[in-house]
Amino acid sequence: MPGDTKPNGKTSNGRSKRSRSRSRSKSSAQKSDKEAAGEQKVASTRGAPRVQAPEDLPVLAYRENIIDMLVENRIIVVVGETGSGKTTQIPQYLLDSERFQCLFENKRGLRVAITQPRRVAAVAMARRVSDERGTRLGDVVGYCIRFEDKSGASTRLRYMTDGCLLRECLGDPNLANYDVVILDEAHERSLHTDVLFALMKRAVKSRNGQLRMLVTSATLDTGAFSEYFDCPVLEVPGRSFTVDLHYHPVSKTQRVEAAVNVALNLHVREGPGHILVFLTGMEECEQAVNLANTKLQNMVESGKEVSDCLIVPLYGMMQSDDQRNVFEEVPEGCRKLVFSTNIAETSLTVAGVGFVVDCGYCKQKFFNPTTGMESLQVTEVSQVQAKQRAGRAGRTQHGKCFRLYSEETFHRSLLKITVPEILRSNLASVSLQMKAMGIEDVVNFDFMEPPDCVRLVKSLRLLFLIGALDADGKLTSLGERISQLPLEPQYGRVLLSAVDLGCVSEALTLVSMLSSEGIWFRPSRQNADQWEEAQATQERFVHRLGDHLTLIRVYNMWEEEGCSPEWCKANFLHFRALRQARDIRGQLYEQLEKVSEASVRKAVQKRERDDRDRRRDRDRGGFVMQSRFLGELALR
Ligand SMILES: Nc1ncnc2c1ncn2[C@@H]1O[C@H](COP(=O)(O)OP(=O)(O)OP(=O)(O)O)[C@@H](O)[C@H]1O
Ligand SMILES: [Mg+2]
Repeated sequence: MPGDTKPNGKTSNGRSKRSRSRSRSKSSAQKSDKEAAGEQKVASTRGAPRVQAPEDLPVLAYRENIIDMLVENRIIVVVGETGSGKTTQIPQYLLDSERFQCLFENKRGLRVAITQPRRVAAVAMARRVSDERGTRLGDVVGYCIRFEDKSGASTRLRYMTDGCLLRECLGDPNLANYDVVILDEAHERSLHTDVLFALMKRAVKSRNGQLRMLVTSATLDTGAFSEYFDCPVLEVPGRSFTVDLHYHPVSKTQRVEAAVNVALNLHVREGPGHILVFLTGMEECEQAVNLANTKLQNMVESGKEVSDCLIVPLYGMMQSDDQRNVFEEVPEGCRKLVFSTNIAETSLTVAGVGFVVDCGYCKQKFFNPTTGMESLQVTEVSQVQAKQRAGRAGRTQHGKCFRLYSEETFHRSLLKITVPEILRSNLASVSLQMKAMGIEDVVNFDFMEPPDCVRLVKSLRLLFLIGALDADGKLTSLGERISQLPLEPQYGRVLLSAVDLGCVSEALTLVSMLSSEGIWFRPSRQNADQWEEAQATQERFVHRLGDHLTLIRVYNMWEEEGCSPEWCKANFLHFRALRQARDIRGQLYEQLEKVSEASVRKAVQKRERDDRDRRRDRDRGGFVMQSRFLGELALR
């Protein structure tokens, strides 16, 4: 095996490939001169790198082995410690290897898709790799996430969310646009990645050697993967830096305050290194930022010497620009304190992090098939997640991780691996996409870990009820149009029906508001006055006919106020969530126009004209008319 040639490397496979591997090593040696020349050629087309990849990354020693294995096998699994260089380096090794590129018959140049379970990771990884290559983001290296595509015809490395790749499979199940697909962070077992496992297996087979696939992770049940894909596994040993573990148990309800206290203690006592704190959700992160700012202010006012500290939140629904603040450099002597959800758990590198505080909990999606409702619940992290979190402290320096639970809890209470999302989420969207790809027998599909049959059948029932499937389980033309919208099927159906019912503008607003993170800002209950003020202010938006009309009302009022951030602040609303809803609305509007049979544009323009008239009347008459359209929508 190629890996056998390395001193500490380990490759494994259910099948024996020893003899083949020996000849492979030889042929790679024969080709290495030619390849080196090829690499020089590719390298010379690069601009000056804005950042340099660390020179001693563990994967570097396995560069040839990875290429050898991928030349020899259509699918391989690569497992390496967090920070070893899997996400940023392996795609570049493939792109720079002429020997590897010779495998492919097409002459358009190698194209690699690299999936990430989260939007923020896809963006950050693309940005980092394009910086390493000295190219403009969106040129050779780009990204594609829902509602945002920064890639073009010249893009060779395309970082994307697994959901986006799944959507591409819908248009082309063979993924002819790509030569290599890397399913990264496979241990996360996100719903889309699990479906992609099966779809990729089919695509690789049908492309007959012209599509290669890598499954990569830091913490993976390699046996199960090797068996499912019938492929070899390359284990890359070694990590960038060590991380010391400290246990500091606190009660679940005290976790936010305890995390802030530990972080501020570290800030006051420890030497260089930024601090990354893992909490469960956006509210907790915002709450922790406020609390940390207040405590720091109190320290300064009480005459304590405290060095500079930039306190920032990081969660999935933040705008890309705001997320960027987290990764930007700070002046020397200033420490960054980042309060993050589990989005920073895998893939992302906040450069210079030396300390991690792990509260031990995260929010996980759970679907209740009886009620048909999906909810985010605060649950204990798995051991795999805890290891990933700790690993964030050792990516650019030796680090320390403070776990806010006991060592006994880690071993006795935490699950070994995270329960795959496919076993706990709503499957309607995935079932619809599979039907749209022509996969008729969804229930007996070759999933790596098949979900409960009852849940699959329930998802098909829901699709039937919204008219996406007929009584025989066949995709209807309405179902086909719904499947083209990047939304849960129910929302897609709402939009398409709204076009016919003349309330598309309101439906677009509603679906966009439901697709963005919560708009309501909830101050801490400890600050009773502010809490009560927020309650009273927000109650003014409440529509007697329910939450949906309340959301539409908030959005319309915000637009009438010129989309002002000050207005949001005064009304205890998250400006970022509303701005995001506006962006999503714009994207959905365009996509709906493409799939809808009637003209969305005309309907929306008419609505905007009516809005303008209403505003004019209001300004003249001095009273606010209740929207006729809201009334109409409510009656439907
Ligand atoms: N944005 C960044 N800023 C600074 N250094 C970075 C950045 N991104 C990557 N690096 C460096 O490159 C190394 C490799 O990063 P990469 O993301 O490829 O590792 P990985 O093996 O994919 O880790 P993980 O399993 O945690 O996703 C990191 O250890 C770090 O030293
Ligand atoms: Mg990675």
